[in-house]
Parts: sequence; structure tokens; C-alpha cells
Amino acid sequence: MTKKLFIKTYGCQMNVYDSTRMTDVMKGEGYQVTDTVDDADMVILNTCHIREKAAEKVYSEIGRLKQVKEKKAANGDEMYIAISGCVAQAEGKEMMRRAPAVDMVFGPQTYHRLPEMIKDAKTMRADTQKSSARVLDTEFPAEAKFDHLPEELNDNSPAAFLTVQEGCDKFCTFCVVPYTRGAEFSRPVKDIIGEAKRLISNGAMELTLLGQNVNAYHGEDTSGGDADLATLIRRLAELDGLERIRYTTSHPRDMNDELIKAHGDVPQLMPYLHLPIQSGSDRILEVMNRKHKAEIYFPIIDKLRAARPDIALSSDFIVGFPGETDEDFEATLDLVKRVQYATAYSFKYSPRPGTPASVMEDQVPEDVKTARLAVLQDEITSSSVAFNTATIGRTLPILLERTGKFENQMIGRSPYLQSTYVDLSDNALDVGTAKPYTDLMGKLVEVEILEGGPNSVKGRVVA
Ligand code: SAH
Ligand code: SF4
Ligand code: F3S
Repeated sequence: MTKKLFIKTYGCQMNVYDSTRMTDVMKGEGYQVTDTVDDADMVILNTCHIREKAAEKVYSEIGRLKQVKEKKAANGDEMYIAISGCVAQAEGKEMMRRAPAVDMVFGPQTYHRLPEMIKDAKTMRADTQKSSARVLDTEFPAEAKFDHLPEELNDNSPAAFLTVQEGCDKFCTFCVVPYTRGAEFSRPVKDIIGEAKRLISNGAMELTLLGQNVNAYHGEDTSGGDADLATLIRRLAELDGLERIRYTTSHPRDMNDELIKAHGDVPQLMPYLHLPIQSGSDRILEVMNRKHKAEIYFPIIDKLRAARPDIALSSDFIVGFPGETDEDFEATLDLVKRVQYATAYSFKYSPRPGTPASVMEDQVPEDVKTARLAVLQDEITSSSVAFNTATIGRTLPILLERTGKFENQMIGRSPYLQSTYVDLSDNALDVGTAKPYTDLMGKLVEVEILEGGPNSVKGRVVA
């Protein structure tokens, strides 16, 4: 009988990618994905450690899972609870102690070893007759994982993720990533092309190249030597069937001219760039160890807009970093006004154990963080609304990726990564053979944009 795997993913796209790769490994072990916890023989929570609430959510989820596990045990059914990802890496031992219902805890670079871990967990339970096994694996490095993950991919999404780079050597003082993902590592171009081809033959039309520092990519090229991200993108652009290429997340310091140029002359490279700056204040950027001043950001953006005038820009911001004054915060607001982002993500600074900023003096009071976040988010929202409403009346190619909540509704992405809702109820016939409307799933359609809000746009399929 096939066994069932329930997997829940928190955090960034790299975790989404990792979760799909874990399902690839688990398929080889006879596990099929289920979306019902009660059916599962194995539950994996793929966790994120970036901010406080992320880890707390995991612990409360473990509490719920424990009840399911006990209920199943009472019926003579086994269930294993596994915690993977960045909380597992950062708090592995602590988690084993704090959550006795957990059977397996393993970090982001160990997923290829899942078969051994499962075997160990089973043997352990059988030998000890205890309700939980105690398997902990938090080894680095990333290289081994990629070399040993299965070739066969189960991901058949029209817009797929492909990790090309992992880890980070930058050690921003607020960030856990260098500790949870390990040192920076770039996959060889050959491996990435191979995986891209497999994803395309599974139906992907769009690939998002992922890395914590994706524009620092420097993988081995097919012709020897190192390829930078621009070179990798140009190689991928040669693949038949690949209509769209994106990449995330980039660091301003690694935004080289070649990459900017690619935005101007690689048609598959989508006009959207997430380029986090975190703060508009040089003083704060310095204490964050970002190693650049706010001023380097503007020429980059000018060059990007010269190469690709319609490029949509996005960023991350942290408010209330230790020592942040009203003046520092004003500098962030000014930057947001100046850049005119299509969208941006902003967070209250969250002290992460083990990071330098967590022990800095001058921690900003919670109420100040909350107030600043509200002001910043208002500014970002008006910028997003302006961007989205400016696309009203345009006809844009939308890659339809999923069905919406309502009948005949589908959701896709515009070139600018706008979430685009289309209602196909009265115009499905406009698109020729597309009936039922779900035949449009995974297709690129032309959509006239009719409405724009802060987080999405709505439109009508015209071709
Ligand atoms: N590599 C990317 C960011 C990865 S983490 C970069 O260098 O920009 C994603 C985002 O989470 C960050 O951009 C930052 O805005 C936010 N973040 C990271 N650590 C945080 C912390 N301790 N508190 C609040 N936000 C944080
Ligand atoms: Fe974290 Fe900084 Fe590395 Fe981004 S560059 S992952 S924020 S340490
Ligand atoms: Fe979270 Fe780890 Fe990604 S901490 S944001 S899941 S790299």
C-alpha cells in the first residue's frame, strides 16, 4: 500500500522548492502526497526561522499534530512527525527537547538523506517501543544535496522554481540565513540546464531561479570557468518552450552591468526585479552590515530603467532595527517615494538568537516599530496602487497558474508579477477551443486589465 505524505511549507520560495524536492525523494520511498493530515503516515513541516512568529507557528502546529498522532496511535496507526527547514537547522537540539512528539528534525542541506533517516526512525521506534523516534541531522553543505536528489521531478507547475544558488556569506547583522543555510554555493550550469529541461518537459513555461543571493551566482560554466547570473540566464533563454525567466532574491552589491544589460535584451527575462535594500539610512545600512550606502541603489535603478523602461521594482524593508531614529526612518520613506515600487515587503525588526543585532543596545520599542511599519506600509500601498492602476487598459500576457475561489475564476501572473484575476465565465469562448475553462491552466493568454488594487489586478481574456 502506498504511504501518504503531508507536507506544509513556511517561509521563502527556496523552502517551496525544497518541499517539492522532498516529495521527489519520498516518492522513491513509496510515499504519495496527501492534503489531509489525518491520512498521513508522515508529516513534514518545512519551517522558516526568519522572524519570531515563524518559529512560534511551528510549535503550535506541532501541538496540533501531536493530537493527530496520538489519535492514530490509539487506532494502531503509525504517524511520523518530521521538522525540516531553517527552524530545524537553528534549533534542532532545542526542538528535540521542547517537542517530544517530533520524530525527525533535519536541516535544509540533508534532504537527500531522507531515506536513511526514515529507516533509522522506523528502527528506533521498533527497538525502543517509544512513541517517537529521535533522529537529528543538521549537516551542511549544500553541494551534497544537489548531487544526490532524484533526477525525476514531480513538479509540473506552469511556473516552477529552480534553486541555482544556496546559502549566504554576507552576514547581515539581523539575519539567520547564513547560519541556517550555510555558506554560499552555486550549482553548475550543466545541472541547472538539465533540471530546467526536465521542468519544461513537465509543463513549465516559466522558471524562477532561486538563491538567497541569486545575483551572486557564480557556477561552473559548461565551457569551464565560472558563469555569472547573466550568463546562466542567456543559456536558459536558449531552451525551447521556456517563455519566462525570473530570479530572486538579489542583493544591490551584486547587481552587475551584465545582468542589467540582460534585462534589456533577453526577451524571456521578465520586467520585474526584487532588489531589497532594507533601509534608506546609511547609518542603519552600515550597522546592518549591508556594506553599501543608500546612494548606490539609485544609479542601479536608473540603469535598469534605461535598459528596460517598464521594469517593476520591489524591495524588502526592516523597520525598527536597533538604533533606528525617526530621521533614519524618514530616509527609508524618502527612498520608497523616490523609487516608486510596484510592490514591497516590510517587516518589524525581529531579534534572532545568535545574530549580532539581537544583542545590540538601543532596541526599538515595539510600539514605535508598529507605528513606523503602518506608515511605511501606507506609502508602499499607494505606490502599488499607482503601479497597478497604471496597467489598466493595457493588454498583458498572463500565465494562468491556478483556479480562484469562484467558479470560472483563474489566477495568473503578468510580466510584472502582478497577481491577475480573470473571470472566464462570459468570455471563455473568445479563446477558441478553451472550454472547459480549466483547459487554460498553464497557458499564456492575453488579458485586458480592467481594475487594479494594492495587491492584484483584474482582467478579461481577449486572446
Ligand atoms: N537575501 C535577501 C533576504 C533574505 S531574508 C537579501 O539579502 O535581501 C528575506 C527578508 O526578510 C529580508 O530581506 C529582510 O527584509 C527580512 N528579514 C530578515 N531577517 C529579519 C529580521 N531579523 N527581522 C525582520 N525582518 C527580517
Ligand atoms: Fe540574510 Fe543578508 Fe544574506 Fe540576505 S544577504 S540572506 S539578508 S545575510
Ligand atoms: Fe525562512 Fe530559511 Fe527561507 S529562514 S526565509 S525558510 S532561507
